[in-house]
Amino acid sequence: MLLLLLFTTCVHVVYCQRCKIIIGRLKKADCRKIHLKKIPQNLSEDIDVLDLGEISFVTILNESFSHYSNLKVLKLDTCNIESVEAEAFKGLWKLEILSLANNSLNISTNDGLFILRNIPNIIDLDFSSNMELADKTGHLLYPGAAFQHLKKLQNLTIDLYGCPVLGHEFKNLLLKWRIIFFCYRKFRGIVENSLKLNYDYNVFISYGYDGYSWVLETLVEQLETKWGFRVCVEDKNITSGRSTFKQIGIALNRSRQIIFVVTSDFLSKLCPAYEIDRTKEARSSRSLQNIIVIALDINIEDIPQELQSLWSDVVVIEWHRHSIDVNLALDNLKTRLLLNC
Ligand SMILES: *[C@@H]1O[C@H](CO)[C@@H](O)[C@H](O)[C@H]1NC(C)=O
Ligand SMILES: *[C@@H]1O[C@H](CO)[C@@H](O)[C@H](O)[C@H]1NC(C)=O
Ligand SMILES: *[C@@H]1O[C@H](CO)[C@@H](O)[C@H](O)[C@H]1NC(C)=O
Ligand SMILES: *[C@@H]1O[C@H](CO)[C@@H](O)[C@H](O)[C@H]1NC(C)=O
Ligand SMILES: *[C@@H]1O[C@H](CO)[C@@H](O)[C@H](O)[C@H]1NC(C)=O
Ligand SMILES: *[C@@H]1O[C@H](CO)[C@@H](O)[C@H](O)[C@H]1NC(C)=O
Ligand SMILES: *[C@@H]1O[C@H](CO)[C@@H](O)[C@H](O)[C@H]1NC(C)=O
Repeated sequence: MLLLLLFTTCVHVVYCQRCKIIIGRLKKADCRKIHLKKIPQNLSEDIDVLDLGEISFVTILNESFSHYSNLKVLKLDTCNIESVEAEAFKGLWKLEILSLANNSLNISTNDGLFILRNIPNIIDLDFSSNMELADKTGHLLYPGAAFQHLKKLQNLTIDLYGCPVLGHEFKNLLLKWRIIFFCYRKFRGIVENSLKLNYDYNVFISYGYDGYSWVLETLVEQLETKWGFRVCVEDKNITSGRSTFKQIGIALNRSRQIIFVVTSDFLSKLCPAYEIDRTKEARSSRSLQNIIVIALDINIEDIPQELQSLWSDVVVIEWHRHSIDVNLALDNLKTRLLLNC
């Protein structure tokens, strides 16, 4: 009796082709770090999870996983993968989680993302850290057409190296998703730390006295910790003193985007006025790629004239701190930060 109990509650472990097969609620094949030349083809056909991380494959050939139609999780991170053939994932109709992180994939190649056609039920897709070889100043294209059938996608992890361009169709998709899937959709951008980064900062934030606590406690936390942006705020990243304005000028010159958090007292502080001025310059020298205005607890009509001189291509997001729509504002900001570059 006791023995039976032990057997039914224990996780069963066997080995196949040196992969560790763990039979519990899910059947998992753990082949991580094992020296293999090809994707193993004679593991049990009903495995749910296959971990092939840290094995060198270079190319994932067509129909590499067609034996494993039950797979829900596939890990191919850190595999030196340079290309994935168009039909590599054929048959993986049940796949929900796929990691291709930390490889050398160029997803901007003509058919790079059409591998997604075969995994329509994917929920979590990780493409991060694939830019080691890529030109970090160049564009990395995410064609919308490749994503439009992924109805269940919740987490998409991509690099923010260089400039991710979400194809034109993608823009509409995001807007559509925001309405339909708004509550559970997460869009996560991973920014790699690298000395080769062209910009020191992804975002420079300009704010007045009234915006201080919201910027430092809420916005910076969201941008830095949750979305992985490198952020520059005067009260943290600029040392005060004689050369404050000079430092601000340099930092702004090295920022990819700027967010003006406009409160009713915005222009009563000296820095914002200077920052507006520098923004115009950075805009005309094309170093600054995106200007976003957050109207914090004020109406769009109440934004100062000075800012309106930057107007023509500026996005304004109305943000009311105590509103229940704060998630919508967050989502809007996230979309703007990712789409405009
Ligand atoms: C799996 O296939 C390889 C060659 O393809 C063979 O060497 C190995 O013995 C097979 N393993 C099992 C457990 O059948
Ligand atoms: C893989 O499949 C694609 C699409 O069917 C095909 O164009 C390509 O030639 C195949 N690759 C190989 C090596 O057969
Ligand atoms: C990414 O891959 C490199 C080798 O290609 C490895 O040294 C590094 O540890 C990997 N990083 C992670 C987070 O796995
Ligand atoms: C999406 O990512 C978040 C944050 O890393 C994680 O907590 C969540 O489990 C992921 N969702 C899915 C479906 O993988
Ligand atoms: C990636 O592919 C695109 C399109 O083929 C090409 O223009 C670009 O140079 C490639 N980037 C790298 C780093 O290979
Ligand atoms: C800005 O300053 C804060 C606090 O000192 C620090 O945690 C953060 O890493 C700095 N940001 C950058 C991009 O250097
Ligand atoms: C910012 O860059 C522009 C153009 O490269 C340059 O003319 C200007 O002096 C720079 N400003 C500062 C404060 O470094």
